[in-house]
Amino acid sequence: MKVKNICCLGAGYVGGPTMSVIALKCPEIKVTVVDLNEARIAAWNEEDLDKLPVYEPGLAEVVSEARGRNLFFSTEVDAAIDAADMIFIAVNTPTKTYGEGKGMAADLKFVELCARQIARIAKNDKIIVEKSTLPVRTAQTLQTILDSTGNGVHFEVLSNPEFLAEGTAIEDLFNADRVLIGGKQTEKGKAAIQSLVDVYAHWLSPKQILTTNVWSSELSKLTANAFLAQRISSINALSALCEATEADVDEVANAIGTDSRIGPKFLKSSVGFGGSCFQKDILNLVYLCRHFNLPEVANYWEQVIILNDYQKRRFAKSIITSLFNTVSDKKITFLGWAFKKDTNDTRESAAISVADHLIEDGAEIHVYDPKVSEAKVKQDMQYIWELNGVSEARIQSKLKQIVVYTNPMEAMHQAHAIAVLTEWDEFKTYDWATIYTNMYKPAFVFDGRNILDVPTLTKIGFEVKSIGKG
Ligand code: NAD
Ligand code: UGA
Repeated sequence: MKVKNICCLGAGYVGGPTMSVIALKCPEIKVTVVDLNEARIAAWNEEDLDKLPVYEPGLAEVVSEARGRNLFFSTEVDAAIDAADMIFIAVNTPTKTYGEGKGMAADLKFVELCARQIARIAKNDKIIVEKSTLPVRTAQTLQTILDSTGNGVHFEVLSNPEFLAEGTAIEDLFNADRVLIGGKQTEKGKAAIQSLVDVYAHWLSPKQILTTNVWSSELSKLTANAFLAQRISSINALSALCEATEADVDEVANAIGTDSRIGPKFLKSSVGFGGSCFQKDILNLVYLCRHFNLPEVANYWEQVIILNDYQKRRFAKSIITSLFNTVSDKKITFLGWAFKKDTNDTRESAAISVADHLIEDGAEIHVYDPKVSEAKVKQDMQYIWELNGVSEARIQSKLKQIVVYTNPMEAMHQAHAIAVLTEWDEFKTYDWATIYTNMYKPAFVFDGRNILDVPTLTKIGFEVKSIGKG
């Protein structure tokens, strides 16, 4: 079947950019992205492209070309489902915060709601595409729900996990290492796979499009994220040993990364990985392994998360220790709040847990991030404190220990220490000599991303602590 009308449920960091690119590359296909969140849809429809809900380099240009032509953002979910011949499910699948599997399993309630809504609305056959990251075997659950109405409509479920990284989403979508499509190996299953292959073939070569059975596709997504995160935890584990032995973690990473079997990517030691997916997906993998009675496998992957938590704690502790064992009433400036550069996304950002540690020790945290607002920073902290059962009164008093700026120089004025939490390029080009003049002495810099020029800063007079350097 030639796809003419696509609907995507979920207009978030995945649904928005992926559908914008599909619409751009396939002008003859009508693409409608729907969401229950009215404010988000309104933001996608903003005239002023700076107000799109997702910041991604290149995204505004894509939206501006396709929107209104064959790309539409709407809250009319039922109408879009009814009209579509292919429906992507790109809703959130966060870690469960309640009940069975709390803190480990993926919460599939949003996905299940989508399936029920599709089953209720659909009057003709449809291809359903899992775009959200899901535990292996979810397609079976979806199929059962979709078929439960017994109204004779045929649903073919495909798995098509998304591998884009935030900050480079458009580049990743334009030139994907691969797209992965899993489907049933039946005649109808193969035809559905071909329909989706034809969509991507508008701009990707056959070599870039992999097809597998459904279960391999679902499991490959969790596996890819687990392998990527494992490399970061591996190099971060070694960063602690480097600090104890005067080895330099960047030199070690370079030395091992030039071995073509290891490769150079994802070996950048840091304050710890963040983002909405690595932790969530590994916890989900660990939960699945325990469910299938594979405790050794579960424990193996869980260590990636344990190490990441250790790295964030270690960074916060090193700030406290260096500042003479107390940060009480001291001004510590965070450069960066987003979980990586070139995004406004702060989910699971290392900055949040480092701030939590330091605030508990009495510090005042002064934050500057080029893309993150004061409201977002405070909302992030409030969320984790509520999750950890901190009383409302205590939350209100802790929130007073956070100040957010739109001007970096003001954020650093009269600070006791600066901590780099995100690797934004602009931090490298600041006038560090002036910053030094305006700080309390000794003036400390904790570079959680190893992006600053240490010899220059040291020459100015800063006490610089990097990750994984003796
Ligand atoms: P997100 O929270 O940014 O967006 C999800 C959207 O779905 C929200 O706007 C929400 O309102 C909407 N939604 C929820 N239930 C709905 C329903 N029943 N109908 C319509 N809309 C509904 O999440 P995201 O970052 O885009 O991630 C979505 C999925 O993609 C997750 O499973 C995630 O693991 C996966 N993923 C994310 C990334 C990434 O870079 N963020 C990359 C690859 C895969
Ligand atoms: C990651 C994967 O890279 C994507 O392929 C995947 O689609 C996505 O998760 C997902 O499933 O959501 P993302 O989290 O957007 O993408 O960004 P990454 O570039 O992977 O960075 C994740 C975190 O690891 C960031 O905090 C980053 O700063 C950190 N990181 C990354 C390091 O500390 N060191 C590195 O060498 C690389």
